[in-house]
Amino acid sequence: MADAKTKAMDGGQAKAPGDAAPGQQPIRSAGNQPAYFSCWDIHAYYGESYIVQGVSFDVREGEIVALLGRNGAGKTSTLRAIARVDDPSLKAGEVWLDHQPLHNMKAHQAARNGIGLVPEDRRIIAGLTVEENLKLAQIAPPIGWSIERVYDLFPRLGERRKQEGTTLSGGEQQMLAIGRTLARDVKLLLLDEPYEGLAPVIVHEIERTLEQIKALGMTTIIVEQNAIAALHLADRAIILDMGQVVFDGTAQDVLDSAELRQQYLAI
Ligand SMILES: Nc1ncnc2c1ncn2[C@@H]1O[C@H](COP(=O)(O)OP(=O)(O)OP(=O)(O)O)[C@@H](O)[C@H]1O
Ligand SMILES: [Mg+2]
Repeated sequence: MADAKTKAMDGGQAKAPGDAAPGQQPIRSAGNQPAYFSCWDIHAYYGESYIVQGVSFDVREGEIVALLGRNGAGKTSTLRAIARVDDPSLKAGEVWLDHQPLHNMKAHQAARNGIGLVPEDRRIIAGLTVEENLKLAQIAPPIGWSIERVYDLFPRLGERRKQEGTTLSGGEQQMLAIGRTLARDVKLLLLDEPYEGLAPVIVHEIERTLEQIKALGMTTIIVEQNAIAALHLADRAIILDMGQVVFDGTAQDVLDSAELRQQYLAI
């Protein structure tokens, strides 16, 4: 484990928090290219509860990063802090996407600037059909994929376009939640447990779709309890433990390290 971790940390992909002056844009990527996405030393709280404790990592354009860790490690909180939703509140640190600082933005501004959070509970709007859910996503610019293109990616949604969204199966609702996000102009897709509660056959179907989205070059952070599935999809992995990054390296490093998986993922 120590070897994999040391190798990753020495690879120049991640530096310890506090290695740049506050307020300075982090440029911490391989090959002297600024990272497409960076969060730098972010600290986030629910009221008095200090949960995200100085998380830093980069994502390069087109990369898929699996954000892993045990229950309660702070994965959802980190995604929410990045997406700039109010809870948890980001008290310190910086979030950058495609040269734009997001750390002083509200969630709707971050969304306008390319953050596409697909929350764990999917939030399909009741009383609206599949198509109306997709149209609602496009009510304001910036508009991303056309609705027909979403249906090309998820033919099941096209077949069910007139069905009320909340009556879809769990897997179909997940497809709608992803499709709705792609219908906006997304630069960074944040997926929180996209496979949760789904039968293996549906997980495979969504995995294949995420492979297609990856092939199109979509930059993605995926949080998943099904770590093995996420690692097969991802290029890199970040492991969180108690609100801190304990590993930053390749997905293959984690697949190869039984010790790392046992210690932090219990798999
Ligand atoms: N709204 C909230 N108010 C207070 N504490 C919260 C809130 N949401 C989460 N927490 C706490 O923050 C910590 C991290 O939770 P978080 O949901 O980010 O973990 P997670 O890694 O996503 O876990 P899981 O794998 O179970 O989804 C936990 O201790 C949790 O109890
Ligand atoms: Mg979670």
